[in-house]
Amino acid sequence: MKKNALFHNLKFYKGKRVLVTGHTGFKGAWLAQVLYYMGAKATGYALEAEKGSLYEKIDGDDLIHNVIGDLSDRQLLEKTIKNFQPEIVIHMAAFGFVKECFDDPVRAYRTNLMGSVNLMEALRDCTSVKSIVIVSTDKVYDNKGDGMLYREQDVLGGTDAYSCSKICMEYMIKDYRQSYFQANDRAIGIAVVRASNVLAGGDHVKTRLIPSILSSVAEGKPVELRNPSQTRPWQSVLDALNGYLSVARFVYENPNKYSGEWNIGPTHDGVRTVLWVCEKIRTSFQGLAFREGERFKVAESETLGLDISKALEELDWEPILACEKVIDQVVEFFKCQEAGEWEREICLRQIAEFYGG
Ligand SMILES: NC(=O)c1ccc[n+]([C@@H]2O[C@H](COP(=O)([O-])OP(=O)(O)OC[C@H]3O[C@@H](n4cnc5c(N)ncnc54)[C@H](O)[C@@H]3O)[C@@H](O)[C@H]2O)c1
Repeated sequence: MKKNALFHNLKFYKGKRVLVTGHTGFKGAWLAQVLYYMGAKATGYALEAEKGSLYEKIDGDDLIHNVIGDLSDRQLLEKTIKNFQPEIVIHMAAFGFVKECFDDPVRAYRTNLMGSVNLMEALRDCTSVKSIVIVSTDKVYDNKGDGMLYREQDVLGGTDAYSCSKICMEYMIKDYRQSYFQANDRAIGIAVVRASNVLAGGDHVKTRLIPSILSSVAEGKPVELRNPSQTRPWQSVLDALNGYLSVARFVYENPNKYSGEWNIGPTHDGVRTVLWVCEKIRTSFQGLAFREGERFKVAESETLGLDISKALEELDWEPILACEKVIDQVVEFFKCQEAGEWEREICLRQIAEFYGG
């Protein structure tokens, strides 16, 4: 398949009504700007943006219609969907941190499983919707820690509340799709997308790798690394979001063919150790030191890899940014930010470069 998802997405999303859950989060703030750049009509549904978050810094409310609500509030979800009449839904809202989910499993299952049930219930009577993308994670695979790259049909299995709540969500989605979204001649496409760790500028959550390194740079302190030898599939946030948008477009155009599960991650060059990412960032900040930090109580696998050949073969999507380039962009973002440039300008410049505009 010819690899022109960038062009096709730019054309397709102009004027489309897209509902994004989780727009106040890290990926959400980037997606709000990508959809704004494309000329889509977007509404977001999420909890209030956190203090110091990217969404707050870019004044996200100017770019996306902002509905503040909890996934547990079914009435507000239904009202939002009824008023907006979305054609496409991208469901990203989640309690998405491995350690926090371990500490509060009730919230993990309430948000990731029951919150998603509430969204599907609210969408059941929606006649405008044609394509739904459910954002899952690469952590749903039964990871043996053997360096294997997992494929969509591989066995699922988690050992913590984050991955298990996402697995439960995936099984629930399968049920809803078969029972309510394909019945009575209705063919609304639903895809589950398993993406890997994203890298980009502007993240404020210090338990994630990039913000923890950059805050150490800003404070002149050594970086504490929990698991320097762990490998992860790192990808640019723009490649991941472009993957979600591509899957949603294919599902919109042919729901029966493209519904199902999709891995969206980097090519082999993106599967790197935590230490490699740190060393690469260190080349831009002389004197940056590392030390081994305390590990979380929750077990984290030494390796994790995603096989993206299904997406490469069947979609027009492919990862654009090599891992080195993504890290350069993260460093550039940080330096521009430190120099006082407005985060929205930095994001929109990187988005325009990505889409070739
Ligand atoms: N960041 C990554 O590297 C990564 C990797 C793989 C998958 N994911 C998945 O991508 C999605 C977005 O991740 P992120 O990094 O932007 O997360 P984030 O924590 O930065 O943002 C989460 C978003 O969900 C919203 N949310 C949380 N609980 C909610 C509730 N009860 N009701 C309504 N909204 C609620 C928050 O308000 C926020 O907008 C998540 O589903 C996550 O599991 C993220």
